[in-house]
Amino acid sequence: ALISMRQLLDHAAEQGYGIPAFNVNNLEQMRAIMEAAAQTDSPVIVQASAGARKYAGSNFLKHMILAAIEEFPHIPVCMHQDHGTSPAVCQRSIALGFSSVMMDGSLGTDGKTPTSYEYNVDVTRRTVEMAHACGVSVEGELGCLGSLETGMAGEEDGIGAEGVLSHDQMLTDPDEAAEFVKATNVDALAIACGTSHGAYKFTKPPTGDTLAIGRIKEIHARIPNTHLVMHGSSSVPQEWLAIINEFGGEIPETYGVPVEQIVEGIKYGVRKVNIDTDLRLASTGAVRRFMAQNPSEFDPRKFLKETISAMRDICIARYEAFGTAGNA
Ligand code: G3H
Ligand code: 13P
Ligand code: NA
Ligand code: ZN
Repeated sequence: ALISMRQLLDHAAEQGYGIPAFNVNNLEQMRAIMEAAAQTDSPVIVQASAGARKYAGSNFLKHMILAAIEEFPHIPVCMHQDHGTSPAVCQRSIALGFSSVMMDGSLGTDGKTPTSYEYNVDVTRRTVEMAHACGVSVEGELGCLGSLETGMAGEEDGIGAEGVLSHDQMLTDPDEAAEFVKATNVDALAIACGTSHGAYKFTKPPTGDTLAIGRIKEIHARIPNTHLVMHGSSSVPQEWLAIINEFGGEIPETYGVPVEQIVEGIKYGVRKVNIDTDLRLASTGAVRRFMAQNPSEFDPRKFLKETISAMRDICIARYEAFGTAGNA
């Protein structure tokens, strides 16, 4: 059944678990996520980015998620719009039937320039008013995601966004977070705590200082009733990097957020854990390996099937590690 994010996260908070929010772009990801959820009895958050809407088209995405709900009627599914750049973008997703939207007012409408606190409050508050009137939940974001190790906002190509973020911009301030939640009435708050988007988060395995668990604790202590969201939560599995590179890929040494540190965050209010890159890496590794080992194969279903099982294994591992399993 389609449910709002608020319902899901309230239950997660009561029971003390976290929910991975997987990005979805195609049928294979959708199947991997749902099969893993069915196997582990987990509730689901699937999220569509602007890139996903551009790739698959809003209608295909919408109906793919609705098809998943129809095929797995016993699994609660939250249909979430990831990183909305304006209230208008969120409004279009609500009209399309999404049960949850993210208004990311920490960045401008270009999706990359940091904004003022006042701008963020304004766009987020307006989105909440509109969304709540439709029974739709809203995630806001305060602070700019960035690696405390590199100062980079994180980019898919590993080159990094223009400019380097200051240490202050990369950690959400607890007092400001309390003020923001009060002013906007968001259902969930994405915080900056040292993670960044993409595969290039850390050049060496992160320690307790590169991921600011202490800051998560401080924010949770200040706003214990607000559901926290951790973006950039891919763990960048070293075994998949090795497979990609063994079969013709060229991905330099890089590290993600260790699963144990996410689990630590879940003890301190993190309820929604955004993961995209890990499923991309598993998919790519599965395709590269299959193609190399089966050079005469040309039926795409053969290699796409490999991506489903590779992604499904990661989803199962996250549902189990985050305590999501058994809560559908
Ligand atoms: O927040 C970023 C997600 O990984 C989505 O990325 O815009 O390339 O689909 P995308
Ligand atoms: P990753 O790039 O770490 O998978 O993060 C995804 C994300 O935060 C989507 O909003
Ligand atoms: Na989001
Ligand atoms: Zn994100």
